[in-house]
Amino acid sequence: MKKLLACSLLIVLVIIAFSSISFSPGKIDHGNSFIDTLEEERLKYVKQVLENIKGKEKMNADSVFKNIQLFKGTKNFTAEHFLMMMDFGWGKGLGVSCTYCHDPAKWESDEKRTKLIAREMYGIRQLVNDKLKSIQGLQSAQPLINCGTCHQGKPIPDKEW
Ligand code: HEC
Ligand code: HEC
Repeated sequence: MKKLLACSLLIVLVIIAFSSISFSPGKIDHGNSFIDTLEEERLKYVKQVLENIKGKEKMNADSVFKNIQLFKGTKNFTAEHFLMMMDFGWGKGLGVSCTYCHDPAKWESDEKRTKLIAREMYGIRQLVNDKLKSIQGLQSAQPLINCGTCHQGKPIPDKEW
């Protein structure tokens, strides 16, 4: 009788374990808490741009692209690395695709207001990061904020939490 009880308990436990696995949501990013549903679309655009600049991926971003203002003169910042920042830091950070700031037929164009705001936002990011570095005795060895620190995967950050 005891054996039977232990056996059925085991079966119940196994069922619970399996059902909790199948209940776990499909698209969780373990690095961040928010869900990134536009990853594939952004990757498609990144590949498109990489195709356009074939052979120049390792050159400095400001010598490859046409309208680089923020990173003009920034050394050791390759075109490839720049695109990673566009995709991961900015796209994922705001939970948007590239088209939020760009018309993919003319990447260099400044006609979208979001692209212009993004340049200013980068200035805020730098301002805060410089200030963070000057705080004495911070616990963290590398204090750093990024677009995603405020935006948390949303184009407009929450006002309250
Ligand atoms: C939140 C707005 C924003 C998002 C999202 C974004 N970009 Fe950008 N992108 C910019 C800004 C701002 C610049 C100009 C940077 C500068 O002035 O140095 C830029 C510049 C570029 C350029 C250089 C174009 C040229 O010739 O001057 C390319 C290529 C580009 N982005 C591709 C992408 C791709 C691909 C994605 C998606 C994976 C993406 N961007 C997502 C804002 C954005
Ligand atoms: C210190 C916090 C903070 C950081 C860091 C930050 N943002 Fe923002 N961002 C905001 C706030 C707040 C708003 C205003 C939202 C509103 O309109 O209420 C905003 C708005 C925006 C908007 C305009 C949204 C719209 O449609 O009106 C864009 C585009 C944007 N941010 C891009 C970026 C990018 C790109 C970065 C990183 C380079 C960045 N932000 C970093 C706080 C931040």
